[in-house]
Amino acid sequence: MCGIVGALTGRPAAPLMLDALRRLEYRGYDSAGLATIQDGKLHRRRAAGKLSELDAVVAADPLPGTSGVGHTRWATHGPPTVENAHPHIAGRVAVVHNGIIENYAELKAGLKADGVTFTSDTDTEVVAHLLDRAIRAGQTPQAAMAALMPRLTGAFAFVVLVAGEDDLLLAARRVSPLAIGLGDGEAFVGSDAVALAPLTRRIVYLEDGDWAVLRRSGVEVFRDAGVPVERREQISTVSAAMVGKGNYRHFMEKEIHEQPEAIAHTLNAVLDPGTGRATVPYPLDAPDIPKITIVAAGTSYYAGLAARYWFESLAGIATEVELASEFRDRDVVLPERGVTIAVTQSGESLDTLMAVRQAKALGQRILAIVNVPESTIARESDGVLLTRAGPEFGVASTKATAAQLTAFCALAIALGRANGRLSEERAIELRDALAGLPSRVGEALHHEARYVRIAHDLARARDVLYLGRGLSYPIALEGALKLKEITYVHAEGYAAGEMKHGPIALIDENVPVVIVAPTDRWFEKTASNVSEVRARGGRVILLTDAAGAERLGESDDHVVVLPTVDPVVAPILYLVPVQLLAYYAAVEKGTDADQPRNLAKSVTVE
Ligand code: G6P
Repeated sequence: MCGIVGALTGRPAAPLMLDALRRLEYRGYDSAGLATIQDGKLHRRRAAGKLSELDAVVAADPLPGTSGVGHTRWATHGPPTVENAHPHIAGRVAVVHNGIIENYAELKAGLKADGVTFTSDTDTEVVAHLLDRAIRAGQTPQAAMAALMPRLTGAFAFVVLVAGEDDLLLAARRVSPLAIGLGDGEAFVGSDAVALAPLTRRIVYLEDGDWAVLRRSGVEVFRDAGVPVERREQISTVSAAMVGKGNYRHFMEKEIHEQPEAIAHTLNAVLDPGTGRATVPYPLDAPDIPKITIVAAGTSYYAGLAARYWFESLAGIATEVELASEFRDRDVVLPERGVTIAVTQSGESLDTLMAVRQAKALGQRILAIVNVPESTIARESDGVLLTRAGPEFGVASTKATAAQLTAFCALAIALGRANGRLSEERAIELRDALAGLPSRVGEALHHEARYVRIAHDLARARDVLYLGRGLSYPIALEGALKLKEITYVHAEGYAAGEMKHGPIALIDENVPVVIVAPTDRWFEKTASNVSEVRARGGRVILLTDAAGAERLGESDDHVVVLPTVDPVVAPILYLVPVQLLAYYAAVEKGTDADQPRNLAKSVTVE
């Protein structure tokens, strides 16, 4: 994780780097720092804590210079102190770094044996020392970089600023993403194109293993020990207007409210405007796929769990869903001609990327369902289905999940039609149900007073249970994850049928139980679970539709009545209440919904 930025410009570099770091704070916010060059010398400011702390330091003691590097940290090696904050400086070299230099201990031992003193606990500092020593020994910075790259192992990206070199940045990418931005007589580098959006939309994406020399006049890209390579300039689809909070308090709130558009745009992209049908993308278009394996992390994994129901029931295809971090470290057995689907908002989660590489090595063809078209996973997959949620900044994923579920559901319908499992009549009904979702989701957003009242209770609870059956089970898991990640209230998502095998022991009047229960084929069984909770004095919070409320609702205060939809698409609608309950509980508690402690959005460590 960590966000990195670099700038060679004609303007003061510090304010524009701080602004770019604000758009990278989703990658980590344990500490932040900047370094610039003025009169050939390095200047540095660092602060522990969020970027606002660094803002204050820089406001009190401004940084001169028109070239520099900046960093926002998610701590891996060493606690989030000022000493461990980036940039790390050794002699003439300042480095900002994301990811892990895996062989740093060995490199550090060698440097220490040579009398080098370290000032931080980080793995980053070895890069600064190794480059500084090579430059002091007479090598050019570029030659020093060429010699260094083959010596490093791990998954990382870093950017280097060298004292005395006001028109030079060195940037390297091994797995972790890095985008170079070209301006008019200016050059920039950042962990993603979104960070650079207000500065330029002309982007050169570095490939895995590339390193680059940036000057104001342009960029040269190399591999290994200095073999030049060509990388195409692209125009980023992200505009500056897409990266603000608008009138919302938090990105998360804004992104929850953007879900009708996220669903509609994803549907428009997936469905053919002429026929209204989805085309099945490569490699899922092959006949007789023996098995689909979905790999993902976090919330994207839960979207995969819902997809399993759809692939099995609408298309009759055997489907397994795997946590990427587990899949990649097992001796998995996959059938010939199998397809692996990687589902990921960022396209950069390292666990998911490694799972993709493992599946590829095992002969699987890969489809990525991804929200960032230029991401590593999108580029390494055989086929890509883009979700069109737009840039997502809240650390807890919301609108990207709605878009993933929409894409999965449309895909399952298309597969069911392609293999004859689903009748055209039913397919039309389901496509209509999907098309109606943006409006239904819009309606579900409008129960604010009810959500706030229930969230008040959740914010005060010590433990909360979320239960759901069938297609509602992944939503129960998602609800619990959302609540714990942004409010720090302990929450567990459980399959409603499993309640009797354990969680029922937890139930008393102090444990709110959120039950996700649209009227579907599982409803009657879930209704029994509601009675079982109530019989034990438990406080039921019921998310259901009008028919469900009539059958089960006791206290109006604790029932959210959602629009009635076809049960197959219900999980996409029921995301909204679980997201908003968590969001308002965070507002009530005063926790930072956009930047919850210890988390980061794009997790590029294992
Ligand atoms: C992190 C984020 C989650 C996200 C997960 C997977 O844990 O905090 O919100 O669901 O990564 O991210 P991906 O980009 O692969 O969907």
